[in-house]
Amino acid sequence: MASAKSLEVPAHIAIIMDGNGRWAEQRGLPKIEGHKAGGKAVRRTAEAAWELGVTFLTLYAFSTENWRRSPREVSALMRLLGDTIDDNLDDMMEKGTKLRVIGRKSRIPRSTLAKIEHAIETTRANTNNNLVVALNYGGRAEIADAAQSIATEVAAGKISAINVNEALIARHLYAPDIPDPDLMIRTSGEKRLSNFLLWELSYTELWFTETLWPDFGRSDLEQAIADFKARQRRFGGRK
Ligand code: IPE
Ligand code: IPE
Ligand code: MG
Repeated sequence: MASAKSLEVPAHIAIIMDGNGRWAEQRGLPKIEGHKAGGKAVRRTAEAAWELGVTFLTLYAFSTENWRRSPREVSALMRLLGDTIDDNLDDMMEKGTKLRVIGRKSRIPRSTLAKIEHAIETTRANTNNNLVVALNYGGRAEIADAAQSIATEVAAGKISAINVNEALIARHLYAPDIPDPDLMIRTSGEKRLSNFLLWELSYTELWFTETLWPDFGRSDLEQAIADFKARQRRFGGRK
């Protein structure tokens, strides 16, 4: 009997980790407690992802729009981010995880940036899997930054305008060597992209869950992967 060929485990999963605020609110806790619990979910999810055979995990940690939040929340988030990276460094070394960060460096507090750069440097030679943190990241900013760097090269006579095509633009994005996500997950019931990986998600499968990010874990990830495997990706073509 011919059986439908099922898809492999997605090599690259991207996640919009949403719902920390509502998680805290439901418990009568300050918002930052939701973000702290979200940090624990990151560790749990990354561990499960590697065990399930995922090799790239991109996590949306802070968007270019998140600066609109209160200065208090922004600085608490930045501090928490640096601390979470610090706390997970031994674990990343143990698991052979290479840390990458995509987004604009501008406006990131110096102490957070120092911790990130230290972790990037420390994990540089790791090859088992890749954790990509989107920080001060915006999909439109990424495309605009690529356009600016291409325009600069054209003006300098390094490339000619006629050679500007999709492949060239892709090479000017923040992480040109990383394959596009196979699966994008958003938690907390919201169904929008919120400026996440606009270029890279063009043919990504989408999966949404009501689960709030701090409650997310292995079983949610397994569910998302099982759903993904049952899908048919066509990329615009037909057999
Ligand atoms: C996601 O949780 C974390 C960040 C955006 C940094 P939220 O803080 O957006 O949580 P909700 O959406 O208010 O519940
Ligand atoms: C998207 O979540 C950004 C991150 C998860 C870092 P938001 O909570 O900021 O998105 P909106 O405001 O609901 O679109
Ligand atoms: Mg939110």
